[in-house]
Amino acid sequence: MDLKQKIAKRALDEIQEGMVVGLGGGSTIKQLVHFLKDSGCSVKVVTPSWETKQHCKGVGLDVVSIEDVSSIDIAFDGCDQVDENLCALKSGGGIHTAEKIVARLADEYVLLVDESKLVPTLTYEHSIVLEVLPQAMEVVLRQLERYPINYSEIRESEKKDGVVVTEFGNHLLDVYIKPRTDHAILENELKALTGVVEVSLFTSVITKAIVGSERGIWELT
Ligand code: 5RP
Repeated sequence: MDLKQKIAKRALDEIQEGMVVGLGGGSTIKQLVHFLKDSGCSVKVVTPSWETKQHCKGVGLDVVSIEDVSSIDIAFDGCDQVDENLCALKSGGGIHTAEKIVARLADEYVLLVDESKLVPTLTYEHSIVLEVLPQAMEVVLRQLERYPINYSEIRESEKKDGVVVTEFGNHLLDVYIKPRTDHAILENELKALTGVVEVSLFTSVITKAIVGSERGIWELT
């Protein structure tokens, strides 16, 4: 069993029959889908990820829409980086708005990570991603001028010419900010900019992380 499988196996221990379970995106979640299917445990799955949705359906798990549930018992997700205070940066995948909706609906929101993603405090080597109303990109860039930023770039689509359009019809701005330690303040400030729908910094919603290394699996709470 590789490390991601071991982390996913530990996550499976938290899932009980009849639960509504949130599943984010990424390779560790993919392993959890396999274990969940093999367990025979009957649950409803909610996911913000198109790939995870296809994967769950492919193995016969019951997938329901986010708008069809009023709460989620437990949700699992990956991240790009998480720190010892359970602040995390997400959204290589650009779906952080839906991921945060799932996180906020969940009684527990649990990150599954290998130790390489765990740091004492977020370093901002990954971008903070802003989901921005298309009409507001210029005004968001202007408001960002007062922040110490290395650079920012509008995310471009790999599939066709032009920019990425999210499932909500918005654009994504990758912001490479100079390191700072007041992550919750930063999340709130960026979220408050006119034209910003959601940010990929998660500072107050993660209940724990299941962390794996070659030395074993442990929980960070
Ligand atoms: C990207 C994410 C993904 O969930 C994360 O990258 C998945 O990681 P892994 O494939 O290692 O499980 O949040 O922003």
